[in-house]
Amino acid sequence: MISKRVQEMVPSVTLAQSEKIAQLKKQGINVIGFNIGEPDFNTPDNIIKKAEEAYRLGYTKYTPASGSIELREEICRKFKKDYNLDYTIKDVIVSAGAKQSLTNALMAIINPGDEVIVPTPCWISYIEMIKLTGGIPVLIEMDENTGYDLDVDKIKDKITNKTKAILINSPNNPTGAVYKRDRLEKLGNLAVVNNFYIISDEIYEKLIYDGESNCCTASISRSIKEKTITVNGVSKSYAMTGWRIGYAVGPTHVIKAMSDYQGHTTTSPNSPAQYASIEALSNSEKFVEEMRREFDKRRKFIVERLNRIEVINCVMPKGAFYVMIKVNKFYGKSYNGFSINNPMDMCDYLLSESKIAVVTGDAFFAKDSIRISYSNSIENIREGMDRMEEGLRKLK
Ligand SMILES: Cc1ncc(COP(=O)(O)O)c(C=O)c1O
Repeated sequence: MISKRVQEMVPSVTLAQSEKIAQLKKQGINVIGFNIGEPDFNTPDNIIKKAEEAYRLGYTKYTPASGSIELREEICRKFKKDYNLDYTIKDVIVSAGAKQSLTNALMAIINPGDEVIVPTPCWISYIEMIKLTGGIPVLIEMDENTGYDLDVDKIKDKITNKTKAILINSPNNPTGAVYKRDRLEKLGNLAVVNNFYIISDEIYEKLIYDGESNCCTASISRSIKEKTITVNGVSKSYAMTGWRIGYAVGPTHVIKAMSDYQGHTTTSPNSPAQYASIEALSNSEKFVEEMRREFDKRRKFIVERLNRIEVINCVMPKGAFYVMIKVNKFYGKSYNGFSINNPMDMCDYLLSESKIAVVTGDAFFAKDSIRISYSNSIENIREGMDRMEEGLRKLK
């Protein structure tokens, strides 16, 4: 009998979709993927060379549970350089992806019955991670009309004596929202006064547009820093999703607890990938900027194309590589045996009829929406948008 804990997990909504996409591809059908949650760029050569060097130099053994000293030192340098934040290696943990850092953080601070606030739309894994710790997710819906900006007043109303943490994500997957300093400061002060942690997932920190930049929550004030666990990683900024290196920085005692937990569950993150990640963090600025500019071009292109479709209103996202659009205006319409009554119907229809893959907003607690990733070439985006426009036109 499977444990209650795992039985209660909501299976990934995107898994069934991935299965359908894989089947179409197997039949030789050219499906354009707007469902992709990772950069379509290759990891830069200088990083790959460092991994090769790592294998030859014998970086093939366990490292300390919280990561190699050299990488943790590099992470401290990164926070100093990017945000003028002082951390020592005791305040840093390296994990198998940001995902593991997030799980470690929740495992370290949440007791059964503790409440964890999550602004939505959000990444669905957050909710399952919280539930696995015995914590209670408290979902608070952000407003589409503000571009899903952080509504701190709404959050304030949901704080109770059981609130242990809030989990925020900026730049945001799936909305592309980027939270500004004033909102984060207001939230940070609430965390200080009400004594709860902020877990700040800043994994898309380098992918921000229109001249804006990431406000690292921990950098706002000393007291906010003491309440903040910042989660980040090399996956999105350096096109290294498969290398599985993420990290977290925060109060020493929390990081120590995360490290104790990680030591028993994972021993240590991948050693050669840690070695190569030092190169990513210290010597890849040019690559990051080129990738960011390319994403920016695609962002403007896709938003322009989507807004050309009569009933679609697509807000220009400020960060990451996703756009969200509402599809409820198509409810009640049908074509070729498909009836659209919810976002999943729309995903199925677009996949079967237009051969494009998008993700249902249900995967992110986003009502009546679909998420479109622009991690694809301009040529593919153009072709995909042509197909989408035609597919939507046929719905009557
Ligand atoms: C918001 C968010 N956080 C964390 C992650 C996971 O990052 P990693 O690949 O480093 O585990 C993702 C990946 O999709 C993400 O979208």
